[in-house]
Amino acid sequence: MPRRAHGDLPDLHARVLDWYAVHSRDLPWRAPDASPWAVFVSEVMLQQTPVARVEPVWREWLTRWPEPAALAAESPGEAVRAWGRLGYPRRALRLHQAARAMVERHGGQVPDTLEELRALPGVGDYTAAAVASFAFGLQCAVVDTNVRRVHARAVAGSGEAAPSLNRAERELADRLLPDDAETARRWNVGVMELGALVCTARSPRCADCPLLDRCGWHLAGRPAYTGPAKRGQRWAGTDRQVRGRLLAVLRDSAEPVPAERLHEVWTTDPVQRERCLDGLVADGLVDPLEDGRYALP
Ligand code: ADE
Repeated sequence: MPRRAHGDLPDLHARVLDWYAVHSRDLPWRAPDASPWAVFVSEVMLQQTPVARVEPVWREWLTRWPEPAALAAESPGEAVRAWGRLGYPRRALRLHQAARAMVERHGGQVPDTLEELRALPGVGDYTAAAVASFAFGLQCAVVDTNVRRVHARAVAGSGEAAPSLNRAERELADRLLPDDAETARRWNVGVMELGALVCTARSPRCADCPLLDRCGWHLAGRPAYTGPAKRGQRWAGTDRQVRGRLLAVLRDSAEPVPAERLHEVWTTDPVQRERCLDGLVADGLVDPLEDGRYALP
């Protein structure tokens, strides 16, 4: 599709950048002096977790482990313990593995190419692009859920993005990216922020949007989403909840714990509890000891 199909790109860029300059949140990993490692840790924590929950844990991590080597020197269990209640705790193990890979392969530094970032444990396309753009100023499109929703509405004119990132969306993001790397960095974070604060999934605040009079979705009368259904994120009673309870017992104990202590936290369904404990062991988040007790790895 030719560029002009998206209207006036300089105007689109200017509106988002001007809005971001005034309305962005002052988040510590966006500070000009935030290190690549600080950005890296933030991006892994921010996958699937809101800013407000991430910020205190991120501060603790960066104080305790200001560089990859400091985390790499710890046992993986310390990373899991310090992960606290952020959820999806395999991310803590992956971060620990990534820190070790940085020490082994990159002289203790966060690598500065997309390819090397992508090769680190726990790093997918999103995280690699985010670190490349935000920490190293590389000119690449950063595409998360918020960004996809803004693109879908403002540019493509539909209410929501597709259930998962598709090729058309990726190509659109590349076409919209400003040519200059520093402008591209601010555009990336600006669109993300617009999606987080204004162009939200459930109750978009269109009256506050800098793109209102050129938003395809708004101009079409804000038609309802008619695409495929999306998976919900139910919590109560799920394996994720049970796993969280089991892991909390281990995090809160300085010593390995006997099996009974784990049994107590989920008595309604012992089969589910055992499945979850087995899953934690299989994921490397929990160590079963010879004496029958359980510990962080
Ligand atoms: N700033 C930079 N990356 C971010 C993210 N993933 N979520 C929220 N704010 C961010």
